Amino acid sequence: MPSINAKPGPVLGIETSCDETGVAVYDRGRGLLAHALYSQVELHAEYGGVVPELASRDHVRKLLPLIRQTLAEAGMAVADLGGVAYTAGPGLVGALLVGAAAARSLAWALEIPAIGVHHMEGHLLAPMLEEDSPEPPFVALLVSGGHSMLIEVEAIGRYRLLGDTLDDAAGEAFDKTAKLMGLPYPGGPALARLAETAVPGQFRFTRPMTDRPGLDMSFSGLKTQVLLAWQRSDHGDAVRAAIARDFEEAIVETLVIKCRRAMQATGAKRLVIAGGVGANRRLRAQLAEAASRDGFKTYFPRLEFCTDNGAMIALAGSIRLHAGQCNDPQIRVFPRWDLQSLSALGTAPSNSGVETAWT
Ligand code: KG4
Ligand code: ZN
Repeated sequence: MPSINAKPGPVLGIETSCDETGVAVYDRGRGLLAHALYSQVELHAEYGGVVPELASRDHVRKLLPLIRQTLAEAGMAVADLGGVAYTAGPGLVGALLVGAAAARSLAWALEIPAIGVHHMEGHLLAPMLEEDSPEPPFVALLVSGGHSMLIEVEAIGRYRLLGDTLDDAAGEAFDKTAKLMGLPYPGGPALARLAETAVPGQFRFTRPMTDRPGLDMSFSGLKTQVLLAWQRSDHGDAVRAAIARDFEEAIVETLVIKCRRAMQATGAKRLVIAGGVGANRRLRAQLAEAASRDGFKTYFPRLEFCTDNGAMIALAGSIRLHAGQCNDPQIRVFPRWDLQSLSALGTAPSNSGVETAWT
């Protein structure tokens, strides 16, 4: 059985938590050696959202070829791997199990350590794949399809939730709003593209929960405002674009206000933005502007590493494996998993928080 203190060479990262199969090889000394992604977007498009069973089956079909392809691109054989990292949660249970089973089997056969990575920790550390890598302490805005969180990162693994969404996540609000106006799945990027074509200010949507102190967020009311505006409209292309523009403006401005508050409250000097909505160009531009006004620095992953990918999982797993952490050789996944339950580096292996994370 692999020793817990094994010091791995290149780490294979596997991401299968939702509708993207992501694989990458990350080496502590040499950085990212290769990465590949297979998106299931077309598979789910006709249903208007992710169908979990179809997602699992497609991961089964695509994962092994993608691992072979990524290793070939890195110029490596499986025997050159020093460790395996896989997304263990949160996410769709069947989809997670595909990645976990493949990762665990590979690690078992190769007698190398494996570690289950928290998907959101992967997102949060993704900016560290870039040349200008953020050093903790920092504040992170995690905005994806399932989460909208502001987190204070004292150190890797030491996460304090500053603010959360009370209902829909930012990405979910983008997706649902896009869907109700008849835009194709996945809605967020489609809505953002459409917004580019309209002038702002034709609709005035609220900036939810910015009129009172606090860092929590809520986006479901905004979605209802859009629904009413859309129902009252002529459903034409111009009005669709105008609504998209002002909806995006409302979400972006709300997130910027909350980020500025979080920076002020913590006194942090670095803000990390991660998760799928972090790919939104208007959000990136307005946060960069706020940062230069308020005197803090922003760190974004490159666009392709904002949305789900294997590179962030390989990186996060590599960091934890090098700190001497790895889990028991069992195939376990955690569809719900509190980010704050993770262990800091240099303390107990990350199994410790995981046991209580089942819901
Ligand atoms: O992080 P991610 O790939 O998957 C989750 O972990 O959820 O995030 C996907 C979310 C979706 O809701 C998608 O619509 C949104 O990110 N998204 C965007 C953009 N690109 C992706 N939302 C707004 N603007 C974008 N450019
Ligand atoms: Zn994600």
